Amino acid sequence: MSAVVLVGAQWGDEGKGKVTDFLAEKADMVIRYMGGNNAGHTVVVGDKTYKLHLIPSGILYPGTKCVIGNGLVIDPKVLIRELTYLKDEGIDTSNLKISERAHVIMPYHIAQDAMEEELRGANKIGTTKSGIGPAYADKASRIGIRIVDLLDKEEFAIRLKENIERKNELFTKVYGTDGFDYEEIFEEYLGYAERIKDMVADTSVHINGYLDQGEKLLFEGAQGTLLDLDLGTYPYVTSSHPVAGAACIGAGVGPNKINKVIGVAKAYTTRVGEGPFPTELLDEMGEQIRKKGNEFGTTTGRPRRCGWLDLVMLNYSKRVSGINTIALTKVDVLDELDVIKICTGYKYRGEILKNFPTSLKVLAECEPELIEMEGWKQDTTAITSYDELPENAKKYVEKIKELTGMDVSIIAVGPGRNQTIVIDELF
Ligand code: GDP
Ligand code: IMO
Ligand code: MG
Repeated sequence: MSAVVLVGAQWGDEGKGKVTDFLAEKADMVIRYMGGNNAGHTVVVGDKTYKLHLIPSGILYPGTKCVIGNGLVIDPKVLIRELTYLKDEGIDTSNLKISERAHVIMPYHIAQDAMEEELRGANKIGTTKSGIGPAYADKASRIGIRIVDLLDKEEFAIRLKENIERKNELFTKVYGTDGFDYEEIFEEYLGYAERIKDMVADTSVHINGYLDQGEKLLFEGAQGTLLDLDLGTYPYVTSSHPVAGAACIGAGVGPNKINKVIGVAKAYTTRVGEGPFPTELLDEMGEQIRKKGNEFGTTTGRPRRCGWLDLVMLNYSKRVSGINTIALTKVDVLDELDVIKICTGYKYRGEILKNFPTSLKVLAECEPELIEMEGWKQDTTAITSYDELPENAKKYVEKIKELTGMDVSIIAVGPGRNQTIVIDELF
């Protein structure tokens, strides 16, 4: 049995899609366990670039089974668009199963997301406006609609009516906008149900069956540890649980089944959306990294905020996600720099904090303690083994290992499948 959880160790967009795709070649099953189409995972194979939002990145291998787990909130319209897109690209999606326990994103969730952001004004979170927060809120309020309910026409009618009544009160009386038409949404969503029904299953049964047969499973995280609802930089977080522990809940497996946690981390840090960011570079250097790293959101196209690698944050992610080993991505983006900095501590009112603070007021005031490393000033994009890396690049990697106590198993030096250096095989 081999079950590996892959988790984002920063604020998302660490390159999880690329690393998942790379590892999926050897995996028998790849499972997405949290989030929704707020995720944007880019996979580059040869001269083709695939952008996935809901479907696991393992889908590009014909033999790999893929699962959208119960922990997700699914916008069926986006799912169908993604299925059509893959089909048009000649990718077989017949190996995909969708959990009947996953929740459905409805049009009112998307409208509510936009409305809530507007009402927050200057305190907006910078959400992807895909309805994620309101869909998870309804799930917690126990009024959500699950895929299993969507497939049951009578049940769906009852639940949708109930929801439309409640939401129309909210929209017309509180937000002062138009409400939603029950019939229209009912018909539209029945169409989606028809389209996906054959893929829907009690996926926990399949996943555990695979585990029992000793197959290799990869749990593909979305977002990043610092965007976790409980453990991230609340309230500037998503509404689900990107941490590794959530793989168990979001897939329906026991924690004793997980063998390893791999944390995907960029060789620097990025963030989309609002919230404090201690190592953020608001100068020319930040601009240079954004340009070289093509740091623009896969989902929303927004420019990503860029900063130095933050080891206070990585050590925090190690602790709360139980990361054993790192996949260090985008090392090539630093190829041209004379000096590369790493944050090893936070200075707060004259005191050095070694642990990532909980209070956002404190975090916002933290000054990063930076060490300087000499750059390697060499193109790394064609390098295929650790030994071939320039000495200063190796020193950079060794410093990360030394200061985090984590291994580095994979180093990515470009978006392509072959631009991946394997130090330790995970499967
Ligand atoms: P995810 O959300 O964690 O899957 O990451 P995204 O796909 O949103 O963003 C990562 C971006 O960096 C994508 O455009 C990838 O193609 C690209 N990428 C991944 N690894 C590397 C790398 O090692 N070097 C470079 N230059 N680009 C990379
Ligand atoms: P992947 O899987 C980066 C951010 C949003 C916003 C906050 C809340 O590609 O790494 P939401 O729409 O979830 O309510 O937005 O979370 N966010 C992400 N940032 N990568 C992601 O996914 C993200 N998913 C959500 O920008 O700040
Ligand atoms: Mg992304």
